[in-house]
Parts: sequence; C-alpha cells; structure tokens
Amino acid sequence: MKIGIASDHAGFRLKKEIVTQLKKEGYEIKDFGTFQPKRVDYPDYGEKVAQEVSNGNLKWGILICGTGIGMQIVANKFKNVRAAVCNDLYLAKIARNHNDANLLCLGGRLIGQEYALEIIKTFLEEPFLGGRHSRRIMKIKKIEKNNCSD
Ligand code: RB5
Repeated sequence: MKIGIASDHAGFRLKKEIVTQLKKEGYEIKDFGTFQPKRVDYPDYGEKVAQEVSNGNLKWGILICGTGIGMQIVANKFKNVRAAVCNDLYLAKIARNHNDANLLCLGGRLIGQEYALEIIKTFLEEPFLGGRHSRRIMKIKKIEKNNCSD
C-alpha cells in the first residue's frame, strides 16, 4: 500500500516526523517534499501528490500545510481525488465511511505527531460504507465530469 506525502514549510516538521515513524512501522511512503524548512508555496507540493492519486499511481495521499485547508483546495481540483482536512479522529473516520476520501490533509500548525499518526491510521483503516453513500459519490463524479475539463 503506497502512500504519497508532501508538505509546504508549515507542514515540514510534522511531515518529517510522520515519514520517519510510518517507514519504521513498515508503510511504503513516497515523499514528494518539501525537503527543507524554507518558505515554499503549498500548491506546488499539493499538486505532486494529488496528480499521482488522480491517475491511480497512488492509492492514498497525505498533504500537510499550516491548517490543511490550502492543500485540500488544491487536491480537490484533480479528478478522482476526494481530499478531506481531518484534524481530528472523528473527521478521519467519517471522511472514509461516508465520503470515501482518498487524500488526507493535515494542519501542521494545529496537531502534534502522535495525534497525527492516530488520525492517519484511522483514515487508512476505516472502510467506505457504500450503500446510500455510493449514490452520493456517483453524483460527485457526475459533477466532476460535467464541470472539469481534461
Ligand atoms: C503558509 O503560511 C500557510 O498559509 C499554508 O501552510 C496553509 O496553511 C494554507 O492553507
């Protein structure tokens, strides 16, 4: 299960800690940067991971900026991407159960390493519940098809 991850400068420290820990636990992580704490623009890094989730090269993405919001906005511009800012465990669970989210956005200025890891594991382990939620996802796909050019 390959997970793509990227951050801007505001998420750099949290990303570094997360990558180290997840690799230690055996997760397959592809790190798209940033690789230093110098100020950068989050769209440049969000785009890299969202593109790979969009084209199916990656099943999961994690994007970290100061709040998670900027990364979420960027990632949701890509087809097949359902990005959700989840800075708590409940949101991580529901983003999977109801929204079939495939890209997790975190706020590096809002949460610490241990809580972020709990959120990530919840997000990766919780199932999509299907049923009535599938109908809603199909509607999202239809909106995407009708409104996003290739
Ligand atoms: C950078 O200062 C900050 O604006 C960015 O990390 C992010 O929080 C945007 O949503």
